[in-house]
Amino acid sequence: MLQISKIGQGTWNMPENGAALDQAVRALQRGIELGMTHVDTAEMYGSGRVEEIVGKALARFHRKEFFVTTKVLPANASYKATIAACERSLRRLNMEYVDLYLLHWPSSHPLEETMRALETLVERGKTRFIGVSNFDVDQVREAASYLRSVPLASDQVLYHLRERTAGARLIPYCGNHDIAVVAYTPFGRSRFPRREAQPEGLLGRIAAKHGKTVRQVILNFLTRPANVFAIPKASHLNHVEENAGALDLSLDAQDVAAIEAVFPVHDGPLASL
Ligand SMILES: NC(=O)c1ccc[n+]([C@@H]2O[C@H](COP(=O)([O-])OP(=O)(O)OC[C@H]3O[C@@H](n4cnc5c(N)ncnc54)[C@H](OP(=O)(O)O)[C@@H]3O)[C@@H](O)[C@H]2O)c1
Repeated sequence: MLQISKIGQGTWNMPENGAALDQAVRALQRGIELGMTHVDTAEMYGSGRVEEIVGKALARFHRKEFFVTTKVLPANASYKATIAACERSLRRLNMEYVDLYLLHWPSSHPLEETMRALETLVERGKTRFIGVSNFDVDQVREAASYLRSVPLASDQVLYHLRERTAGARLIPYCGNHDIAVVAYTPFGRSRFPRREAQPEGLLGRIAAKHGKTVRQVILNFLTRPANVFAIPKASHLNHVEENAGALDLSLDAQDVAAIEAVFPVHDGPLASL
């Protein structure tokens, strides 16, 4: 199984200029210091600008102190273009290799070709692990079937309290095949459970019981299965510090059952943004 921090850091929509950028860089660095060492980015974010920012922010750490994921756009997912896209990302990140390289979402290029390119990138030392994103069970199975020398390490998918489709089949399937599931948008954006997060709401009460915050309860709940990880994005220091505090929490069986009852897993096609 891929070894990454249970709670990592996303970078989509990271501020790209001015004081907000400085603040976001400090927040990202603080997150690393607090143990959120998995940093997720993509060639798509800011059309490459976010990879440059991430590379500069991480330059102050030893290479082995963090774990970087980036992603190839589906439009670039032919064999040759995938290799070239990874090399461009490495230049922007100013790194010799990334830790995990993903196909961002299913592409019209033949999947076998993309998987062969990802495997070549591992053989050339450009990435340590490879994976996919926004792939449902059948697509994960197909992607893995094309790999000869390297296992499929991860699938990054939409997973939050109001969108738990991945919990029905994908997470168990990946758990049985040593594939890490990385939950993106763990706070659900506009679908954040505001009512349950009130002090008298279910999440508010559980948080108070443990001396934690609602967001810490959410992150901890989502990442309970051994193969599930999360990458909340935060550009503010106080948000990063709060998210890192989700790491040392033990929800009890009663908490888990109560959250499961209000935010159940639904079977169906995998949702994405
Ligand atoms: N593979 C894919 O297709 C895909 C799709 C979407 C996202 N992703 C990845 O997943 C990451 C996370 O998803 P996301 O950015 O969509 O959503 P998210 O992490 O669920 O939410 C981000 C928002 O939550 C706020 N926030 C974070 N921590 C907070 C806290 N402790 N208290 C209050 N607000 C807090 C952030 O504010 P501030 O930034 O202002 O601090 C930001 O507005 C992305 O950044 C990206 O790396 C991948």
